[in-house]
Amino acid sequence: MAEAIVPRPIESGCRIIGISHLSKTYLLGEVEVHALRGLTLDVACGEFVAIMGASGSGKSTFMNILGCLDIPTKGSYYLEDIEVGRLSRDELARIRNRRIGFVFQGFNLLSRTSAIENVELPLLYSALPGKDRHQRAMEALQKVGLGDRVHHYPNQLSGGQQQRVAIARALVNNPAIVLADEPTGNLDSRTSIEIMDIFQQLNEQGITIILVTHELDIAQFARRHITFRDGKIRADRINPNARNATEVLAEMPLGEDDEEDEA
Ligand SMILES: Nc1ncnc2c1ncn2[C@@H]1O[C@H](COP(=O)(O)OP(=O)(O)OP(=O)(O)O)[C@@H](O)[C@H]1O
Ligand SMILES: [Mg+2]
Repeated sequence: MAEAIVPRPIESGCRIIGISHLSKTYLLGEVEVHALRGLTLDVACGEFVAIMGASGSGKSTFMNILGCLDIPTKGSYYLEDIEVGRLSRDELARIRNRRIGFVFQGFNLLSRTSAIENVELPLLYSALPGKDRHQRAMEALQKVGLGDRVHHYPNQLSGGQQQRVAIARALVNNPAIVLADEPTGNLDSRTSIEIMDIFQQLNEQGITIILVTHELDIAQFARRHITFRDGKIRADRINPNARNATEVLAEMPLGEDDEEDEA
């Protein structure tokens, strides 16, 4: 496979991510851990990508770099047309806050803080007045179907609802990309598909989604599958039969594991 040394400039369509010969090596005492070993790939605006691969294959390391939480040891990363490796810490923080939303397996909500306050958090650094922050957070919660739970604390919400609060928090800055690392790892199967339904709706609105999952059932909702092995890309394929989560949910009977929904 031919590899472009310099990522192609944006010509036809729009490239949101351009990665070239990207490596990440951690130093643990005297031992070098080669978490990523030379990745080259592009992601176009509006793609929905699932990243798979065995534990330790480098998926989270990759997501952390995509999300500007970490920087590569070698190679280049262009986010839109900005070379991330050249940014200062402040610039990295700014681009992360404005362009990227994160969703994690463990939700990462503040426990003594209501849903709406959790969602408002990323806006605290903005110049928006309190009233507008509240309004934006409200809209984000409505988008994920939680308009009637805004004053609940995380321990008063089901796992699926907590994850939806986390998605609302990821959306509140109108990001171009949502990065989700095992977002359904702690959820039962129906709730997982509900979360995928939300991601598919966001994707239809133009947000690029990159999601790590261990489960093929979950990856089926993405239109491109990238598989990692030992810090390298082992496979990168279009999934021509991506499933529609709304349709799958409609066909699914309410299962035994959904009692919490009835409560
Ligand atoms: N901060 C770190 N310091 C040293 N080594 C690390 C660090 N973070 C990750 N690694 C190592 O890098 C490799 C890739 O880890 P990574 O967390 O990216 O894997 P993963 O594919 O996300 O795995 P999982 O599916 O278990 O979440 C592993 O061998 C891991 O031990
Ligand atoms: Mg991981």
